[in-house]
Amino acid sequence: MNYKKCLNKNTKSLQGKVAAITGSTGGLGSAICQTLCELGAELILLDRNEEKANEQIKNLTALFPTLKISFIKVDLLNFESVKNCCEKLKNTKLDYLILNAGIYNVKREKTSLGFDNVFQVNFLMPYYITKTLLPTLRRANGKVVAVSSIAHNYSKTDENDIEFLNEKKNSKIYGNSKRFLTYSLFKLFENEDSAGLTLAHPGITLTNMTNHYPKAINWLVKIGIKILFPSPKKASQNIIKAMFVDASKNEPQWVGPQIFNIWGKPKLKDLKTSTNDEIEFVYSTAESLYKTIAD
Ligand SMILES: NC(=O)c1ccc[n+]([C@@H]2O[C@H](COP(=O)([O-])OP(=O)(O)OC[C@H]3O[C@@H](n4cnc5c(N)ncnc54)[C@H](OP(=O)(O)O)[C@@H]3O)[C@@H](O)[C@H]2O)c1
Repeated sequence: MNYKKCLNKNTKSLQGKVAAITGSTGGLGSAICQTLCELGAELILLDRNEEKANEQIKNLTALFPTLKISFIKVDLLNFESVKNCCEKLKNTKLDYLILNAGIYNVKREKTSLGFDNVFQVNFLMPYYITKTLLPTLRRANGKVVAVSSIAHNYSKTDENDIEFLNEKKNSKIYGNSKRFLTYSLFKLFENEDSAGLTLAHPGITLTNMTNHYPKAINWLVKIGIKILFPSPKKASQNIIKAMFVDASKNEPQWVGPQIFNIWGKPKLKDLKTSTNDEIEFVYSTAESLYKTIAD
């Protein structure tokens, strides 16, 4: 895949557009930000680590001195900080909200809100932010791009254990949180006329995601991923393409790599990994959790 060709084919100028992105300090986030700047977007970085975010702003500003890039601190493990971030964003012009932050294979902990940390960071807070900012997005006919994962299909939802608290395998715990993210957002936008959603999957790429593995294993995994899979810059093209395509509102679709969801050009495709009943369950759970935490 030729990066420039792919970019020219799948995108247009973002001058005058504002894009807010979570997880801009990570491997994919940095690559997405770089492309957004190349396309001329104004950026709002939504990150938990002020130092890393400022470094990111410094690097991007050096390359794109005329662009406006700002930062709002948000820790998805801290509900007060998420509420505060939404408060700051709600009266802004928001053309794109890119839900990119995510965690995998971390030590499991209960958050102060009472949820499993992976479930909260990968699903519950992105859902809360999206639903809270829907009126803001509607005003600009804005769009949400949610970064999911093929791992969402490693297991089905368990109605008796929505957070997979009884599960030990990290891939399944992570997959469950991405399954909730994927199908709750699909349903939230099903009848939405003024704002849009596209789900995306980057494939597999070398980022900081595996940093929680023991050192030696991480070293081996990183070499393997680097040799076998596309770079973050190429993988991020799936998220970039998702900003520009119109996904179906009636059937779940996502943008992911063409070949086995891992290699090749970004492609919009059907997502046939769930039933209507499961999607209804995921959505009603998301709505009821939203109501509980928002009240
Ligand atoms: N890499 C892959 O192969 C792959 C495959 C499928 C899907 N994905 C998805 O791609 C997205 C980006 O991940 P990545 O691969 O770029 O991993 P990464 O390099 O580890 O980046 C993760 C980002 O999420 C942020 N984050 C983590 N916990 C947070 C919290 N509590 N509050 C706010 N931000 C938080 C991180 O912030 P810090 O910099 O402060 O840690 C970082 O910016 C994730 O949603 C991931 O699930 C990745």
